[in-house]
Amino acid sequence: MSAIVILGTVIGAGVVLVGLIRLKNMKSWGRHDAQDEIDVQSRIVLITGASSGIGKEVAIEMLRRGAVVVIPCRTTERALATVTDLKGRPGTSNGTIVSTIVNSN
Ligand SMILES: NC(=O)c1ccc[n+]([C@@H]2O[C@H](COP(=O)([O-])OP(=O)(O)OC[C@H]3O[C@@H](n4cnc5c(N)ncnc54)[C@H](OP(=O)(O)O)[C@@H]3O)[C@@H](O)[C@H]2O)c1
Repeated sequence: MSAIVILGTVIGAGVVLVGLIRLKNMKSWGRHDAQDEIDVQSRIVLITGASSGIGKEVAIEMLRRGAVVVIPCRTTERALATVTDLKGRPGTSNGTIVSTIVNSN
């Protein structure tokens, strides 16, 4: 084997090794780390648009973390359906759901 091939192999192995060490030192290998979560235990969190989409996902996460989640809804039907849905999601019993009806009429 020539000196060039040996040198190339050593440098290549070094680069791979450094990359692996950096990857290993990355927090949780890019996964969500529970220790990074903001503590919202017993905090009151007001979430508009919580009956669907991203608002509902935020509500689920806040309940899972033990917050008191206030969800203003436009109709009683939506409020009841949303509360029932949220209560049925795993882990949401850690928090408290308060629904209110807001109506511009
Ligand atoms: N999803 C995404 O990937 C994404 C990305 C970027 C930005 N956004 C923006 O984030 C917001 C929410 O998106 P989403 O996908 O979660 O939407 P969504 O599932 O349609 O949720 C809409 C929520 O807003 C409420 N809402 C709609 N119109 C309203 C009004 N006139 N007055 C009061 N409440 C009203 C709905 O209540 P009711 O149940 O009473 O209808 C529902 O709770 C939107 O503004 C969207 O443009 C979303």
